[in-house]
Amino acid sequence: WPVYAAEIDAIMTLKRTRNAVVLAHNYQTPEIFHCVSDIVGDSLALAREAMTVDADVIVLAGVHFMAETAKLLNPSKTVLIPDLGAGCSLADSITPADVRRLRAAYPGVPVVTYVNTSAAVKAESDICCTSGNAKAVVESLGVDRVIMLPDEFLARNIAAQTDVKIISWSGHCEVHELFTAQEVRDLREDYPGVVVLAHPECAPEVVAEADFSGSTAAMQAYVARERPAKLVLLTECSMSDNVAVLHPDLDFVRPCNLCPHMKKITLRNIRRSLETMQHAVEIDPSVADRARLAVERMLAVK
Ligand code: 13P
Ligand code: SF4
Repeated sequence: WPVYAAEIDAIMTLKRTRNAVVLAHNYQTPEIFHCVSDIVGDSLALAREAMTVDADVIVLAGVHFMAETAKLLNPSKTVLIPDLGAGCSLADSITPADVRRLRAAYPGVPVVTYVNTSAAVKAESDICCTSGNAKAVVESLGVDRVIMLPDEFLARNIAAQTDVKIISWSGHCEVHELFTAQEVRDLREDYPGVVVLAHPECAPEVVAEADFSGSTAAMQAYVARERPAKLVLLTECSMSDNVAVLHPDLDFVRPCNLCPHMKKITLRNIRRSLETMQHAVEIDPSVADRARLAVERMLAVK
């Protein structure tokens, strides 16, 4: 803790001198999430909040696509990502050329793209979605068929909730694909009465075994509302740590799958990022205008 305290103090001072805010995703470690962040949330909340930031500098404590989304929505700000290697297996699973090939294979079918993609992939899309609004986005289009990419499991989980036919891609989240239906059955046997919450990036068989499925913000809201005495969150490790701080009376069972990309962000590199003003996210203007449109269309869906 003394080491953390020195880093936290330094970051607080730098935030003032740089006129900066720290936006942190729910998967950031508790010392980042609870001690230096100004705004926390799921991908959807971070996108919405980024748009209204007044400060000169946004430090995105999350992964690269989140920093790109913040830059798209608030282009006059300096958006910093403390480690350029903080990527995402979903974002890496698809290229702009793949999207163009899909469009050619399914002419006229709209492309719904998960925000866990590069700005260049978003630019090839009609509209974006997050795990928090995917069903609403798909149904907002008023069509009977959509292409939804790149997360195969999210697409299949949404397909189970809507009459719209969904053509999916083969991307997976390297964290959520590790959970299995057998693991859920074992958890129920080992922890009788446990309430199971699964992120929709988990395989459909896992979601089918769960009591609730939703984005990280939806999981957090479920916990606050239902207050299950014993629960397990099938998602990235730090999520349980962060939610448990808010509900010390609840018993969190913690199978732990770490996101190596989220874990690249540390107090130390947040501090360094504010000291050196690196790494500033820049997006090619020819890509940015089209990608912004896809994200803004998503934000317009109620
Ligand atoms: P949400 O916080 O939007 O549910 O996203 C989860 C995720 O994996 C982000 O990388
Ligand atoms: Fe990507 Fe999965 Fe990590 Fe989220 S948890 S950033 S989807 S690899």
